[in-house]
Amino acid sequence: MLKVENNIAVKRKFNINEVREDFPILKRLVNDKPLVYLDNAATTQKPQVVIDSLNHYYTYDNANIHRGLYFLSELATESYENARLKVKEFINALSSSEIIFVRGATEAINLVANSFFMGKYFNDGDEIIISAMEHHSNIVPWQLIQNKIDLKLRVIPMNDAGELDIDEYEKMFSSKTKLVSVVYISNSLGTINPVKKITEIAHKNNVPVLLDAAQAVPHIKIDVQELDCDFLVFSGHKVFGPTGIGVLYGKTEYLESMPPYQGGGDMIRTVSFEKTTFDDLPHKFEAGTPNIAGGIGLGAAIDYLNQFDRNELTNYEKLLLDYATEKLHEVEGLKIIGTAKEKASVISFVINGIHPYDIGTIIDTDGIAIRTGHHCTQPVMTRFNLSATARASFAFYNTKEEIDKLVLSLLKVKKMFAI
Ligand code: ALA
Repeated sequence: MLKVENNIAVKRKFNINEVREDFPILKRLVNDKPLVYLDNAATTQKPQVVIDSLNHYYTYDNANIHRGLYFLSELATESYENARLKVKEFINALSSSEIIFVRGATEAINLVANSFFMGKYFNDGDEIIISAMEHHSNIVPWQLIQNKIDLKLRVIPMNDAGELDIDEYEKMFSSKTKLVSVVYISNSLGTINPVKKITEIAHKNNVPVLLDAAQAVPHIKIDVQELDCDFLVFSGHKVFGPTGIGVLYGKTEYLESMPPYQGGGDMIRTVSFEKTTFDDLPHKFEAGTPNIAGGIGLGAAIDYLNQFDRNELTNYEKLLLDYATEKLHEVEGLKIIGTAKEKASVISFVINGIHPYDIGTIIDTDGIAIRTGHHCTQPVMTRFNLSATARASFAFYNTKEEIDKLVLSLLKVKKMFAI
């Protein structure tokens, strides 16, 4: 909880040992070794306060929301809507009605794609600009729309460091361009894209922008008004909250004009067999019983993060990134994929002659969890002429000692392959 002294909120000083105590899973053993969890880009671990909030909700407060006039239903509704308010403040949206709860970033992008299609926002021949480093979740939803209408995907190219070519991007606009949908931080390269500039350029061309901030929200402070993006999506589980909950932020002017893409209870005003009228924002987009506990858990994760000065966490992660980048070079034959100047604490790498799956499997015996594969970014792999990489991704609860263990374990892998 944020301490308040003399009416001023006092931030909790970041202390790595104390922070690690907040995450119970970090104490467990894996293969008889202390867990070294370096797969934070896939999902983050949960602090005890988030786990407690789920437990508390199901133990004491469980009821359906927006439906009951009885005590528990009102309590659950208040907690859920309070979580929406926390998200609104967390990303500095103008209003909590601009916060749509969804299952995750993937569902949020599918919502925009389908709603735009159903609202006839796209015409045959229209274009969407995405980037060469998109997660499949920002490629496939648009391709599904391509099955219904002649929609073209224009792809911003990137250089060998994994940085987008902004000059090329600027040249891509035409009267056919309907949307720019780009990733803020690449999950497989770690690149932090210049999304403010990307947005400015799009707006100069009167084109709205969707930012996939799934990997950005856990690492940096987000201010949607400052970014001026029109949509922003993220997943709760990547920001120390539960799985199955995520956020679509949209500017009111867009969300108001978009039709719902799912129908059901809790999103209507009136229904007859002839005609249905829809509820106001945000409920129009939240058909059916939502993930109530998930929303509340995400609110608890935001409270947890809000205790700290986010810059302090970001700086610590930068320290980990720099340390790991340097230490990994001790492993001969190791090559880092993604060397952008602006990077978050995500390091993809390959080792000459050793398949990433072998790396992942062997270091798991030392209790070290990293992700191996294409990271749901097959076009990135193709761009770098690879089928897979190994990827270590760090959160603010990781330590330099854990990076040392990773490097030692990788040296062991090298020895086993005797190369
Ligand atoms: N998108 C997640 C990752 O990068 C699952 O691992």
